[in-house]
Amino acid sequence: MKVDVLLGLQWGDEGKGKVVDVLTPNYDVVARFQGGPNAGHTLEFEGQKYVLRSIPSGIFQGDKVNIIGNGVVLDPALFKGEAEALEASGHPLKERLHISKKAHLILPTHRVLDAAYEAAKGDAKVGTTGKGIGPTYTDKISRTGVRVGDILSPRFEEIYGNAKARHEAILKNLNYTYDITEMEKDFLAGVEYLRSFHLVDSEHEINNLLKEGKSVLCEGAQGTLLDVDFGSYPFVTSSNTICAGACSGLGIGPNKIGNVFGIMKAYCTRVGSGPFPTELFDETGKLIRDLGHEYGAVTGRERRCGWIDLVALKYSIMVNGVTQLIMMKSDVLDQFETIKACVAYKVNGEEIDYFPYDITEGVEPIYVELPGWKTDMTRMTDEAEFPEEFNAYVSFLEEELETPIKIISIGPDRAQTIVRYTEE
Ligand code: GDP
Ligand code: IMO
Ligand code: MG
Repeated sequence: MKVDVLLGLQWGDEGKGKVVDVLTPNYDVVARFQGGPNAGHTLEFEGQKYVLRSIPSGIFQGDKVNIIGNGVVLDPALFKGEAEALEASGHPLKERLHISKKAHLILPTHRVLDAAYEAAKGDAKVGTTGKGIGPTYTDKISRTGVRVGDILSPRFEEIYGNAKARHEAILKNLNYTYDITEMEKDFLAGVEYLRSFHLVDSEHEINNLLKEGKSVLCEGAQGTLLDVDFGSYPFVTSSNTICAGACSGLGIGPNKIGNVFGIMKAYCTRVGSGPFPTELFDETGKLIRDLGHEYGAVTGRERRCGWIDLVALKYSIMVNGVTQLIMMKSDVLDQFETIKACVAYKVNGEEIDYFPYDITEGVEPIYVELPGWKTDMTRMTDEAEFPEEFNAYVSFLEEELETPIKIISIGPDRAQTIVRYTEE
């Protein structure tokens, strides 16, 4: 019996999809616990690239059970497109994918509300993915949401109609004009399609599997700095992206959790608005974006790029109880003469080494500079090949973060992954 959790420590897009796929052979079940199609988890293997939004990244490795948990918000129209594309590419999933009846549905009007609220915010907009995430979680917390299980009710049309009418009244108040005719067609087709899946009480299923001695990997979406409680509020998403979210988003007791894998890039990125202390506005930032192909998997937006922020990472490690680190995209820094790491902030002239309440303004990063390794590492297969300067960078991070780095990713492909020899 074992539950491990893998989650992002920065502002998302750390490479969660790739690593979940790599680790899946060690588990019986892979489960998403929060977020929705705001996520874009990219996997590459055998010359193919896939971007998953709602389907767990364990779907490609054998006949593992993949679960969409109660903490997730699901858009039936987008789900249908995603699932059909996977089936068409030779990855049948109907039997292996189980969906919680308690997951909430993203309705067409939730997406319109997302756009309307963003438009109303003007300069203060969050820069959401526009997928209706905030309004859907708002309805969940307001106890007015529509759940996956509702599609099995003979009253579904009425339940949907009532929610839609409530949303339409809000939109009218906001003077927001829209047309959901097409979206609604796709939504209803998606609902019909969803009915053909295993819609389950996933908390029972997972706990029964655990009792049978099976192991579960929980896949986080977004990142800790986008967590609704601990992230850079209000520039965050609307779910708990932290480890505790795996408990509430799947119905797993905290005492069942073993390893917490915290995943980070060798640098840092952010997409959407909000503070980002180590953001680079110069040529170096552009170079990282170009070398790392830092464009959003969901919206295609440019990702903002900067140096690794150890103050923020320490905070993320703390609130998640991270036991092991995974470092991604180190190959992006392969050509750099020197590399910087932020070890403290200067706030109002005072140096601090903890993540403060507000990072919106006046936070100046204090950097340590380390020599680059200037070696193409993308074809390496063993840590014995790592250049000395790279090892020094890894040791420096492990010391600062007081957590071992167990896996190092040196390229987007499944094969470009190096598991280090460090002891358990
Ligand atoms: P996720 O949302 O955390 O799953 O991450 P995304 O898929 O949104 O973004 C990570 C991007 O980096 C994807 O395009 C991956 O294919 C790519 N990627 C993952 N690991 C590496 C790596 O080690 N090196 C490089 N160069 N790209 C990587
Ligand atoms: P993955 O799982 C990066 C960001 C959006 C926006 C904020 C709120 O691929 O790492 P939302 O649509 O959730 O209301 O947007 O959160 N955001 C992400 N950024 N990766 C993601 O997911 C994200 N999901 C949401 O850009 O700033
Ligand atoms: Mg992503």
